[in-house]
Amino acid sequence: MKTFHTGRAAILLLVVCVPGAAQPAQGSIQQGLAIARTHCARCHSIDASGPSPLPLAPPFRDLHKLYPVESLEEALAEGIMTGHSEMPQFRFEPEEIENLITWLKSLE
Ligand code: HEC
Repeated sequence: MKTFHTGRAAILLLVVCVPGAAQPAQGSIQQGLAIARTHCARCHSIDASGPSPLPLAPPFRDLHKLYPVESLEEALAEGIMTGHSEMPQFRFEPEEIENLITWLKSLE
């Protein structure tokens, strides 16, 4: 128990003290998938193949071909998104964003 808390605090400190430094993603792929399934999947394909339910919406597996998926972090934090008119506004917690991005990276 004690070790767990110490380790967790160390990670938090790192994240807080070194903003913008290249960190390996700490998020959870499972949690990220759950967020995508809940909030995004009715328009975007979240699978390895197959078209998006809404043809205009790019399948998530293709996003990394357009830009590094890390660059979505800011957009997600600010409430996605410009040029995204059919899409509702989202606002996510930093932890949720990290999970989502970790999952997106797992698709690459
Ligand atoms: C109601 C439908 C809908 C939902 C729900 C939705 N999207 Fe979208 N999304 C779209 C459409 C349509 C586009 C294409 C917009 C365009 O090209 O103008 C898009 C585009 C995008 C893009 C590409 C934007 C760009 O500029 O390249 C990203 C990233 C994205 N969505 C992320 C998400 C995430 C993350 C979620 C869930 C949290 C989500 N979307 C949920 C409809 C949706």
